[in-house]
Amino acid sequence: MAFGHGKVILLGEHSVVHGRPALAVAVPRGAEITVVPAAPKLPATTLHIEPWNVSVDAGPAPNLGREPLQEALRVACGFYDDGRHFALSATVRLPSGAGMGSSAALGVAVLRALDDARGLTRSDDEIYQRSLAWEGVFHGNPSGVDNAMATHGGVGLFTRGSPLTPVVPRHPVRLVAAYSGASSDTKGMVESVARQFERNPEQVGRQFDAIGAIVMNGKLALEQGELRSLGQLMTMNHKLLAGLMLSTAALEEMITAAMEAGALGAKVTGAGGGGCMIALVDSVAQQQAVGDALRKLDKTVYDVESGS
Ligand code: MEV
Repeated sequence: MAFGHGKVILLGEHSVVHGRPALAVAVPRGAEITVVPAAPKLPATTLHIEPWNVSVDAGPAPNLGREPLQEALRVACGFYDDGRHFALSATVRLPSGAGMGSSAALGVAVLRALDDARGLTRSDDEIYQRSLAWEGVFHGNPSGVDNAMATHGGVGLFTRGSPLTPVVPRHPVRLVAAYSGASSDTKGMVESVARQFERNPEQVGRQFDAIGAIVMNGKLALEQGELRSLGQLMTMNHKLLAGLMLSTAALEEMITAAMEAGALGAKVTGAGGGGCMIALVDSVAQQQAVGDALRKLDKTVYDVESGS
C-alpha cells in the first residue's frame, strides 16, 4: 500500500510561495494506493480514484474533462522508460479543493505505488522532488509545502528550496478543520496574490515579511507549548491573508463561530477563496464545542491531532 499524507497549513500559506517560511501539520488522512498488475495488453497505466469515482489513463487519447489529472499521471509515468503499465486504485480520504493537500497526497502515493510495483525503493527526498512535477500540473508555481508534508508527514517548518525541518511540539496540536462548502482554486488564488505583489511590491512584500515573522514565532510557541500565543498568531495571520483577499463571507462566519465557541485562534488554511478554515483548541471538550458550532452552520468538520 502506497501512501501520501494530507496536511493543514498552520501558518504561512501564500507568503511561502514567495520565499517566506510556513508551518504545517500532516493529517493522518491521506491518499492510499493499491497496485493491480496490469492485464498483459493494457496499453497504458490507469488510475481509478475513490470516493470521487474518477478514472484516467496515461495514454495519448484525451480523457475529456479530466485532462489535468491525466497529464499529472503521464508526468508520473514519464519517470520510467521500461514500457510497463499498471492499474492503480486510489482511495483519497481528503476533500478535494479544500486546502488539505489532496492533490499532493495523491501525487506522492502514485509515485510511491509506481516504484513499489517495480520493486524499487526511492528516498523520500526523491519522491518529494518528483511530486513537484505532479503538483506543477495543477498549479504552475507550487512552493512545495504540500508535497513536503505529503511525503514526510509530522509537523514541519518549510522554506521553498530547502529540506523540511521537523518541528517537535511540546503538546499535541489539536485542531478543528471545516470545509466552507465552496472549493478553493489554488492556481487562481496563487496568481491573484502574485498580481497584487507585482502591482505593489513594497506593501505586499511587507505583508509577506510580517507573515514570515508570525511563522517563526509560531514555531517557538509550538515548541514551548504556548498554545494561547499560537492561537493569537493564527488569528493575526488570518487578518493578513484576508487583506490579500483570500477570505470569504462563509469563512469569516465560520471563524467567528469557532472563536465564540472558545477556539484559541482561527484562520483560513491553504489557498483560500473557499476551501477550509482551521481553529486551534486545547482540549477534547473544546474540540467538541468548536466542532458543534461549525456543524450548526452545516459545515463538514474534520478533527485533526498531530505531533506530540
Ligand atoms: C496551498 O496549500 C498553499 C499555497 O501556499 C500554495 C503553495 O504553497 O504552493 C497557497
